[in-house]
Amino acid sequence: MDELKEVSKVKHWILEKYFPAWARILGQYKRLVYVDCFAGAGKYTENEPGSPLIILRLASKLVKENKIQGINLIFIEKDKISAEQLNNNLLSEYDGNDKIKFNVNHEDAKNLVGLLSQLIPPKLSTFFFVDPYGYPISFPVIRRILKNLKSEVFLNLMWYRINMDFENPKAIESVNKMFGHSNWQKHPFMKTHSVKREKLFLEYVKAEIDSKFAPDFKIKFSPDEGKGILSSKRKCTT
Ligand SMILES: C[S@@+](CC[C@H](N)C(=O)[O-])C[C@H]1O[C@@H](n2cnc3c(N)ncnc32)[C@H](O)[C@@H]1O
Repeated sequence: MDELKEVSKVKHWILEKYFPAWARILGQYKRLVYVDCFAGAGKYTENEPGSPLIILRLASKLVKENKIQGINLIFIEKDKISAEQLNNNLLSEYDGNDKIKFNVNHEDAKNLVGLLSQLIPPKLSTFFFVDPYGYPISFPVIRRILKNLKSEVFLNLMWYRINMDFENPKAIESVNKMFGHSNWQKHPFMKTHSVKREKLFLEYVKAEIDSKFAPDFKIKFSPDEGKGILSSKRKCTT
């Protein structure tokens, strides 16, 4: 089990505020789908809930209050032990309400999410939480998800880590995979090292994922992990 870091508390705070608002609007008449792409073990060392338990609790409350019809929760975790712990943690919280269904997939999100984005029927509104330690799922996959105007992606971009890798020949392949191409190497953000780099990079990412409406939440403090950008992507559904 991991220690809950300050930066994660802020991520969880945003998730707790944002997810119910989205669910209430889109879940009144149709089932929803939530995909936690980098789910973790579900609990931290002091028993604090991770994103999966936070969402299960919120979903149970929304269902009990008849605010949403129902929801399928899909959790993806690559580490076998964490995936098992997550399943147990979810089972011990789940109240058996059949309006909520969940499953834990011991898989690589970078493979599975592309497939899921094709399998989930477009009439269903889907919320993807993308919260990696390093590189997220690829931008072409996020772009495909966001083609569905009722879908959302909450993307945690680890700027501190990614920025360190731009000039590292050993990491170029990972950056290429994230972008889905190598054209980024010629983009203007690569020509500056000032604070402008971060801004240009973020604008480029938004264009790459074809984001129409993308509020950014930047988390600067993080004594334990260095700086990061927390960026949420939302498309207008009206
Ligand atoms: C930042 S933690 C997730 C924290 C969790 N979202 C929360 O808020 O409680 C990232 C998790 O992703 C898992 N992971 C790393 N690479 C992965 C991949 N390619 N696919 C799925 N899970 C992965 C790690 O084992 C780790 O548990």
